[in-house]
Amino acid sequence: MRPDSRAVHAGREPRAREPLAPPIVQAAVHVFDDLDDYTAVASGRSPGHVYGRNSNENTSMLANAVAELEGAEAGVACASGMAAILAATLALAPRPAPLVVTSEAYGVTLAMLRSDLAPLGYEVREVDLNDPDALAGALPGAALVHAETITNPLCRLTDLEAVCRLAAGHGVPVVVDNTFASPVLCRPLELGASLVVHSATKYLGGHSDLVAGVIAGGAEPVRLARDRVVRMGGSLGPFEAWLALRGLRTLHLRMRRHSDNALALAHRLAGLPEVTAVHYPLLEGSASEPLARRLLPDGAGGMLAFDLAGGREAVQAMLSGFRMVSRRARCASPRVWRTLTTSSRTSHDRSAVVGEPVHRGPARRGGPLRGGARLRRAGALAQPGRPRRRPADRQGGPEHPGP
Ligand SMILES: Cc1ncc(COP(=O)(O)O)c(C=O)c1O
Repeated sequence: MRPDSRAVHAGREPRAREPLAPPIVQAAVHVFDDLDDYTAVASGRSPGHVYGRNSNENTSMLANAVAELEGAEAGVACASGMAAILAATLALAPRPAPLVVTSEAYGVTLAMLRSDLAPLGYEVREVDLNDPDALAGALPGAALVHAETITNPLCRLTDLEAVCRLAAGHGVPVVVDNTFASPVLCRPLELGASLVVHSATKYLGGHSDLVAGVIAGGAEPVRLARDRVVRMGGSLGPFEAWLALRGLRTLHLRMRRHSDNALALAHRLAGLPEVTAVHYPLLEGSASEPLARRLLPDGAGGMLAFDLAGGREAVQAMLSGFRMVSRRARCASPRVWRTLTTSSRTSHDRSAVVGEPVHRGPARRGGPLRGGARLRRAGALAQPGRPRRRPADRQGGPEHPGP
């Protein structure tokens, strides 16, 4: 079956007279005929579900669907992307051990490793995963490597094939956060990863109306992860799972459009003098382009970052002018306000100092435009006279820098 068709059908095979749309099984407990019946289901010998924290029809459908799209043997749905990352980490590193990660990883992932696991005795080894010497130096004795296919927020790519090959040489499993690529654009298990994790809050769900996570991979590491999810209470609720599965049905269409839109916007932004750097993996001439063409041949998704000259005031002025772009933290929008809305303790605040070299795009046809007009042409600013949106809500607090 083609991947597009798989996204439409994965995780469920409705039988005759069943509803085409899956019912929402909003239940904490299930009933049984007798002790034998219960034991058969609880032990996994018969299909079914016992208790909502252990499993549920809707969460199983979602987990199976993502596993199918990722080419995995098994999957487990979690209460959030962070719950998935924690469970995957503890599955492969059940006791304190060195963990290898890039310091450009998603800020809350780093915060969790540094603030929650390091005090328990885990050693967090932060290296550039694309630097083979640095990675080789960090691997001995490590329990796992945590990589992101596309980093949040700077859209740096990880050479997953090289990282997995080097890690395998040291017997170290690799967990890949594939949130920003999705299985439509990249399938890390095919490149040697042991587990894939997702914040399904983003592309898999696709509608900014749920928080969820998924782990997919080999049957044994997923079993270990599932045990953690169940014991630690990180299970997903049925309604979120139902929403996420519905979102998944259009994933392939959305990823294609996200990729086209982001590349077009990257081109436009790269031509603006106010924009000092554009971070988008597939931007022609950027340092990441050769790797992007190999890793993400079908597109690089909708995430895009850029640096604006003029500091905070310039960013504020741009945000105030947005008409169509929502100033909220979600992945379907260019996240230009990131440095304003996130904690300085996370990787997010580094967007001005790390990342790829400045890329100036091709000269704009038709001569230069004036400041506001240039940003309007790029689709970023409101047209004069159009109503402005009310000020953005505060995103999260100091303890939670948001997505
Ligand atoms: C790359 C990445 N991984 C994990 C997460 C955490 O996901 P969640 O917010 O669903 O816990 C996020 C959230 O933004 C993310 O961007």
